[in-house]
Amino acid sequence: MSSTSHLLNDQTAEDYRRWVTEGVERVADKLARTETPLSGITPAELAPVVDAIDLDQPLGDPSAALDELERVYLRDAVYFHHPRYLGHLNCPVVIPAVLAEAVLSSVNSSLDTWDQSYGGTLIERRLIDWTAARIGLGDTADGVFTSGGTQSNLHAMLLARDEACRAVREASPAPLRKADILPRLRVLASECGHFSIAKSAALLGLGYEAVIPVPCDENRRMRTDALAAELDRCRDEGLVVMAVSATAGTTDFGSIDPLPRIAELCERAGTWLHVDAAYGCGLLVSNRRRHLLDGIERADSVTVDYHKSFYQPVSSSAVLVRDRSTLRHATYHADYLNPVRAAENLIPNQVDKSIQTTRRFDALKLWLTLRVMGADGVGELFDDVVDLAADAWKLLNDDPRFEVVTEPQLSTLVFRYAPAGDVSPALCDRANLRAREALAASGEAVVAGTVVDGRHHLKFTLLNPRTTLDDIAHVLDLLADHAQRYLSEQAGPERGHARAS
Ligand SMILES: Cc1ncc(COP(=O)(O)O)c(C=O)c1O
Repeated sequence: MSSTSHLLNDQTAEDYRRWVTEGVERVADKLARTETPLSGITPAELAPVVDAIDLDQPLGDPSAALDELERVYLRDAVYFHHPRYLGHLNCPVVIPAVLAEAVLSSVNSSLDTWDQSYGGTLIERRLIDWTAARIGLGDTADGVFTSGGTQSNLHAMLLARDEACRAVREASPAPLRKADILPRLRVLASECGHFSIAKSAALLGLGYEAVIPVPCDENRRMRTDALAAELDRCRDEGLVVMAVSATAGTTDFGSIDPLPRIAELCERAGTWLHVDAAYGCGLLVSNRRRHLLDGIERADSVTVDYHKSFYQPVSSSAVLVRDRSTLRHATYHADYLNPVRAAENLIPNQVDKSIQTTRRFDALKLWLTLRVMGADGVGELFDDVVDLAADAWKLLNDDPRFEVVTEPQLSTLVFRYAPAGDVSPALCDRANLRAREALAASGEAVVAGTVVDGRHHLKFTLLNPRTTLDDIAHVLDLLADHAQRYLSEQAGPERGHARAS
């Protein structure tokens, strides 16, 4: 077979149909037969299987490559669609979006310029307008799809930084260089906000230390009295708060910062308000809980991750802005791609707004999702898991084996195995760590872990409406058994030592 026979074109359309169908059939069989969310294989066991593949010896035949793929990937993949996958912020995906994945990678549009994407550009623009309208950002809003929440946050921080520099320059009697202004810039974000905000500050030349963590209340929401005090302190010290980053759905707790009060403080201080709704954006399509996002419409920029609470495959995210003119801070006109004259002629080149150049047509997934199941359908899925989290919280709260940190607003639960009796916090930490590891090794379920107030905790992220309260009760029993077994093994002198530590 010549190499050209592998190119997808008019002459190979039949091969494409056959091979992709075969691949889809294998994955469908696999999904139907998956009994546990993961196999529990260790890196040491799987690495030799992958390393043994000679990449310079092609198999030629897609069926043989798919057979091989069973061993190197499908057999041990982590299956987010399984009801006992309760780990990170990964959702099971909706079929219309997976169908769109097949379409978009086959046509392979690149969304940077109109001359590479035509309808794709317009579809993306419609979805940005649709999302901005759901947020309530007004007529001047715009935005662009990105690769994920991290990139959306980086993009928003870049715009906020350059808007702040512009404002400082305009207010300065003497000319100022950007380099003179950057050291004065600060970002205020809740201590429970996502680390990508701090990373963005570092990438944007401000350093990690430019992000000042604002303390949270007992429900892990930003304390607005602390925010107000910090805004005043920065002003008094001649610092420029380039953005307040509020979170609508913190990664660990799903907590939603008090957006109306934060918006008020930002307006008063003349500060850019960014809302990281990477997780909480699913509420935009909820018929029962949209009010939890009240205040988001006052943001200057918003991050939404459709690949979290809109049940979309990775990757699918967007950054939205209230004032489309701020997107110019990401504009670069390249002669070969998007010359100034194209903008003057109103050619819709999305690259003018993006920090990426070649860019996937991820928007198609959301498009087909809305066209097949509708926004209400997506909202119902998310509402179901928020209901489930509320029931699971009651279960945990009534269970003497566990302590649960906060009552969830969204669909995460952070808790800790904490049996009654004489167990030191350090030993309890290790029991929780071991319980999580042992559970993963068994393949029975996946739970996440995090650290709260210096202590190791366990975390459920519930995004699968097929997960039941029985699944949760079963996983709690498994965790308690693993933790208790570890504690029993440690009983004796070690336990006394741990108590002292
Ligand atoms: C609140 C929040 N913001 C941003 C991100 C980063 O998103 P991504 O992983 O899509 O880059 C996450 C990821 O969990 C998140 O929870």
